[in-house]
Amino acid sequence: MLQPRVLSLCHVLVLVLCLCKAEDFQWTKNKHGSFYYGTFPAGFSWGVGSSAYQTEGAWDKDGKGLSIWDTFTHKKGKVHRNETGDSSCEGYYKVKDDIGLLKDLKVNHYRFSISWPRIMPTGIKSDYVNEKGIEYYNDLINSLVASKITPIVTLYHWDLPQVLQEKHDGWQNISMVNYFSDYANLCFEKFGDRVKYWVTFDNPWSIAVEGYETGEHAPGLKLKGTGAYKVAHHIIKAHSKVWHTYDNQWRNKQNGLIGISLTSNWGEPVDITNQKDTEAAERYVHFELGWFANPIYNGDYPRVMKEYVDRKSAEQGLGKSRLPTFSSQEKSYIRGTCDFLGIGHFTSRYITQKNFPINRGISYHTDRDLAELVDPYWPDPGSEWLYAVPWGFRRLLNFVKTQYGNPRIYVTENGVSEKQHCVELCDEWRIQYLKDYINEMMKAIKDGVNVKGYTAWSLLDKFEWDEGYSERFGLYYVDFRNKNKPRYPKASVQFYKKIISSNGFPNQREVENWHRKSTEACSTTNQLLAADPLITHMEMVTEIVVPTVCTLCILLSAILLMFLLRRQN
Ligand SMILES: *[C@@H]1O[C@H](CO)[C@@H](O)[C@H](O)[C@H]1NC(C)=O
Ligand SMILES: *[C@@H]1O[C@H](CO)[C@@H](O)[C@H](O)[C@H]1NC(C)=O
Repeated sequence: MLQPRVLSLCHVLVLVLCLCKAEDFQWTKNKHGSFYYGTFPAGFSWGVGSSAYQTEGAWDKDGKGLSIWDTFTHKKGKVHRNETGDSSCEGYYKVKDDIGLLKDLKVNHYRFSISWPRIMPTGIKSDYVNEKGIEYYNDLINSLVASKITPIVTLYHWDLPQVLQEKHDGWQNISMVNYFSDYANLCFEKFGDRVKYWVTFDNPWSIAVEGYETGEHAPGLKLKGTGAYKVAHHIIKAHSKVWHTYDNQWRNKQNGLIGISLTSNWGEPVDITNQKDTEAAERYVHFELGWFANPIYNGDYPRVMKEYVDRKSAEQGLGKSRLPTFSSQEKSYIRGTCDFLGIGHFTSRYITQKNFPINRGISYHTDRDLAELVDPYWPDPGSEWLYAVPWGFRRLLNFVKTQYGNPRIYVTENGVSEKQHCVELCDEWRIQYLKDYINEMMKAIKDGVNVKGYTAWSLLDKFEWDEGYSERFGLYYVDFRNKNKPRYPKASVQFYKKIISSNGFPNQREVENWHRKSTEACSTTNQLLAADPLITHMEMVTEIVVPTVCTLCILLSAILLMFLLRRQN
């Protein structure tokens, strides 16, 4: 995953505080309460997702090469508590267990990614292919197919082979296009007889901005105002080349579909009556989603993006824009290279116009001339960036429909985290989040948006990039302190299963029943936790209970002390 993160959270907070003072602004004007009961179209595909580096572990086993994430996490100070994905969920060794979870959920599809360096250790096909890696993915795919679960396979979920970064500058170098195409071609050859849904890239926005602009992600480069644009340019070319390869060489034989997965927030104008704000909000979505979707569907970067980056580059005195351009040949080559659009979505922002003069620094973020805000009343269940704003999902989906000609959509990521200290399996906020977001998706389908499937993010708690293990997105809880990495169902598993088996929300009485039953199941799953690895449970209990008791004692002493002092006065 993860996710468009606001560059300067402080900025957001400050703005929130400022805006709170403006009394004429109605934060609640966008509360859309009504819940829609009904079912999804027949054949709607329900699934869950994961990615290789976040779950597989086995980072140096069976001939796997290093990825930029192996290198990045092994440097100190890059990731929360210096954590790594070295072993993570040990998914590499637990295919059977995890297929069991998928069967229990009764999902129609499972989205996972292939680790490029696991099957091509240097990233270059002519160097060598690692048969053990091929074997692992064959085994996974065969088990899925045998269980009647459709694999949706992502080719690139951020783990570039380290050699390509070191020797060729990674995505900054146009040569990645051919290396990636060779790799994709091998995947079609080896797995395409069984895999019918391919996703070239997951969240290229994050690859470009967090990897090469802010440096929060691997490879950790801070090339403000230039790196992200260049990288995105090459990724778009790589995507379209691989689509053409599939279309020319494999589609006849294999009959699959190939798309890309774009992750985007929704941006809502702070003041809907102010044209500057509505333009800024639209610009926000164009800079995030349109940056990739517009070339792929309409042949070029969004007009507004070119206008802003070109103007800022000129103000800087640059001879040419920091935003690269496509030749007309390239435009027609890139246009239409998507059989379906994968959409990742987690949260929304309010947007207002804000000028950033170029003498205050150059960056992708300041190029947009806008500020992002959050409503203090939005629930923020776990991650500091992830506020639950279900109605934003419907708006984003409608934006896709109108801007890109109503394409076939698969929601490839949607979900919510909790912070590590909430170890309970009673994830009511996740139930609420999934219920409301899935309902808004249903409304979007009623609006005519062509959504074909939904992927809850994610199957398991896993390595959450720069946040390490401190944020948990799983439907299943993973005990990372236990070497065996046991998985336990959270309450949301029961609830999601009901949505899947009913293909939607049949009626109020039933949905309320599910809610009650899922949270009832909390106590049973806790019993399971107590009954099975007892020691682990004891550890967990002491970890929660001891600090809580200590805190309470201190609080009580303080109150007592105050009381005594007062009496003495
Ligand atoms: C991470 O590594 C750095 C550098 O060695 C060290 O200063 C820091 O204390 C480490 N953090 C944790 C939580 O271990
Ligand atoms: C880009 O890659 C090519 C071939 O892979 C290599 O010859 C060239 O040196 C690379 N350029 C940079 C700037 O690393």
